[in-house]
Amino acid sequence: MLKRIPAIEMSGISKRFPGVSANDNINFKVYPGEIHALLGENGAGKSTLMSILAGLYRPDSGKIKIKGEAVKLRSPGNALEAGIGMIYQHFRLVSNFTIAENIILGTKNKKIGINKEQIESDIRSFSSSFGMEINPADKIYQLSLGEQQRVEILKMLYRGCEILIMDEPTTVLTPGEVKELFKILRTMAEQGKGVVLITHKLDEVMEIADYVTVLRSGKVVGDGQISELDKQSLTRMMVGRDIVHSQAEGKKQIGELILAVDNLNVKGVRGNRAVSNLSFNLYKGEILAIAGVAGNGQKELIEAIAGLREIESGSIEYEGEEIQHYNVKARAVLGIRTVPEDRIGMGLVPNISIMDNSILRSYLQDEFKKGFLLDYPKIKEYARQIISDYNIVCSDIHHPVNYLSGGNLQKLLLGREIDGNPRVLAAAYPVRGLDVAASEDVYNLFFHEREKGTAILLILEDLEDVFRIADRVAVMYQGSIKKILEVENTSIDEIGSIMLGAEVMGEQYAEV
Ligand SMILES: Nc1ncnc2c1ncn2[C@@H]1O[C@H](COP(=O)(O)OP(=O)(O)OP(=O)(O)O)[C@@H](O)[C@H]1O
Ligand SMILES: [Mg+2]
Repeated sequence: MLKRIPAIEMSGISKRFPGVSANDNINFKVYPGEIHALLGENGAGKSTLMSILAGLYRPDSGKIKIKGEAVKLRSPGNALEAGIGMIYQHFRLVSNFTIAENIILGTKNKKIGINKEQIESDIRSFSSSFGMEINPADKIYQLSLGEQQRVEILKMLYRGCEILIMDEPTTVLTPGEVKELFKILRTMAEQGKGVVLITHKLDEVMEIADYVTVLRSGKVVGDGQISELDKQSLTRMMVGRDIVHSQAEGKKQIGELILAVDNLNVKGVRGNRAVSNLSFNLYKGEILAIAGVAGNGQKELIEAIAGLREIESGSIEYEGEEIQHYNVKARAVLGIRTVPEDRIGMGLVPNISIMDNSILRSYLQDEFKKGFLLDYPKIKEYARQIISDYNIVCSDIHHPVNYLSGGNLQKLLLGREIDGNPRVLAAAYPVRGLDVAASEDVYNLFFHEREKGTAILLILEDLEDVFRIADRVAVMYQGSIKKILEVENTSIDEIGSIMLGAEVMGEQYAEV
């Protein structure tokens, strides 16, 4: 039998950052036509390893071969010439340009002299050869996140990419978009291209991947064919033990009404009606989960509750007081803490230190003033406290916050908000980007808050999590809450069908 040559082969790769060994003597291979999942806990070194392969970071030591030939990748441009392309979580498209313009932007063969129609029809037939139906004349800002991601993929393929690396590509997608993405990845694999997929979602790994490599603390701790593995063995490889899913026990005593949202209407970024005649009550000591297909107004609802987005009409009452016109700080002072969907920008500032980010919210800063100045020793102590309370892996609190791995960034943000002793805690997608163990930690934090009587509103994407975590579930569809049910009296099937728009009998909005 002929010996198969890997499309890429990394051997003995090491990379240190100040205070941490992000990659330690790693060997990693991808064969043509293979979908290879790269797994590991938050901070395990996955993004670092792939950034080395994509030419963004230089390894301290180690070798990279492409189709058996040694290469040096000095820049992302270099890597792309060698056939390696990486798609990051935050897309880098120019939003005022069309799809076609974004795809040919920066390519050497700009095909000067060929008219726009020709380019567009080229791109159209190129994309349909990968099973993607797009209109090349559409502008980027008109596209959903899933569509923007398809453009990113096309851009890479158009540049001759043979190995496509995707860092947590499904976190921002709706279930339908995930299916579309997987179809595209399969077509690519059938055409002999290699795909590396970084993800925390084990169901997806089982569904799409052929092979898996698992990292822990910068080292490879296991690898193998997916057909010979299951979710439990993958978890064990990742965290070195089994994860026990915790569940708060017994029937909870739901407390008094604390937050009443009535007939709320909120516009989205495109001027559309994102939240429409939405009403619900939230009680002390309960976890109310909002279930719904992403993009049905969940993001705008949390922003409206936080005071980050203006409402059109309706009311939000907190302990009987209308607060819909209060700003973020005034609401926070009352005890309403929120974690919005857009972490960067609304939650954290990328280029300033971990320490400064820990007190970033204006409502926190008053506590840390000494006269007119900030009390640095106190801030430092506070930041250290958050780091240790919330298990954040970080070598130095003076480093910019973007040195943190994706999951650790998320824990910092959550920790900062939960630490303020909220009475109402509203969070959008609190475990997005977190590994299994860290997700458990976060859910335990919510259980602990619930014990204290905090009223908790969570937007969750995984229905199994909804059933494990929540007391009640509100199903959101096209901007409204269609039905609120006790989790004990409903099923994943029922919730799933309401999420997809099934008619709800009786009142349009039912309170239990
Ligand atoms: N630019 C950087 N400067 C300093 N330290 C960094 C930098 N990038 C990553 N690190 C550190 O290297 C380690 C590995 O980080 P990496 O981002 O590769 O993890 P990851 O496996 O992708 O995690 P996650 O699942 O949370 O995204 C972490 O401890 C992180 O804090
Ligand atoms: Mg990462």
